[in-house]
Amino acid sequence: MHMEGRLQVFSGNANLALAKEISACLNMNLGRALVTTFKNGETRIKIEENVRGSDVFIVQPTCIPVNENLMELLILIDAVKRASAARITAVIPYYGYAKQEKKTTGREPISAKLVANLIRTAGAHRVLTMDLHAPAIEGFFDIPVDHLQAGQLLSEYVRGLNLKDPVVISPDAGGVGRANEFRERIGASLAIIAKQRPRPDTVEMIEMVGDVAGRPAVIVDDMISTGGTLVEAAKSLLQRGATHVYACATHGIFAGDGLTALRNSQMVETIVTDTIPQSPEAADSRVRTISVAPLFAEAILRIHKDLSLSALFS
Ligand code: R5P
Repeated sequence: MHMEGRLQVFSGNANLALAKEISACLNMNLGRALVTTFKNGETRIKIEENVRGSDVFIVQPTCIPVNENLMELLILIDAVKRASAARITAVIPYYGYAKQEKKTTGREPISAKLVANLIRTAGAHRVLTMDLHAPAIEGFFDIPVDHLQAGQLLSEYVRGLNLKDPVVISPDAGGVGRANEFRERIGASLAIIAKQRPRPDTVEMIEMVGDVAGRPAVIVDDMISTGGTLVEAAKSLLQRGATHVYACATHGIFAGDGLTALRNSQMVETIVTDTIPQSPEAADSRVRTISVAPLFAEAILRIHKDLSLSALFS
């Protein structure tokens, strides 16, 4: 679908700061919309400017509070659809429900697929997202998905630390591909930790492949939820002789006591992006936040102008 309409960016309440920064990078104001709740708890939306014939981008990560943010996204899409926008792109920097992308035992849902269906049914024509927990989720959508990666931004920061002979660590088998790409970017070697989850949200390290003795370690993951994986991985690495430990992840969720766990850990610094808004306490927990706004702005502009996004993926 070639777009002649004007470009407009709207946002729900999930990450207004990021949406404003993306708009600033595009030299435009964020579209005016009322996004609030009725007294009965239902989401209330009103688009406060004309979107007829426009190419509309709605920025809304589905982070905590996940269900509220998801409903805001769905209802925003419905509102601009009914206001005759020509094309709607759901910009979902962090895609929630992604860890429920397959059944691990009987009688479980595949919530990541259900959410994809909801976004499509609401009226989105495209999705722009970043570092999906499982790349296969892209295929859950029957509309085009542009899937950005934060690896370049995060690795540039780590390269700037000038660590001597670092080792990149994948904290689980599923993350080896991601860690290996990161390793190539910073010119490091690779080690892999095998972990298990005896119960949801609890972590045990089983074994490690690779040598970290006398070297700095950089754990690379897609998300930090409770922080359990990082804290346990950091302990194992220090026990095995790593000199100090850093961590990088695209999505800093910091659920529950995640920040406290990090603050009390021996992690030197944890680097995340702003796909999810970070509280001031994050900095107190030695969390550094790198902005993805310029990258999303460039992707939005290219989508709007029908230009290739391949250069942004490499
Ligand atoms: C797991 O497959 C993910 O890549 C992360 O390692 C995990 O989501 C982190 O969760 P938590 O911080 O709760 O250990």
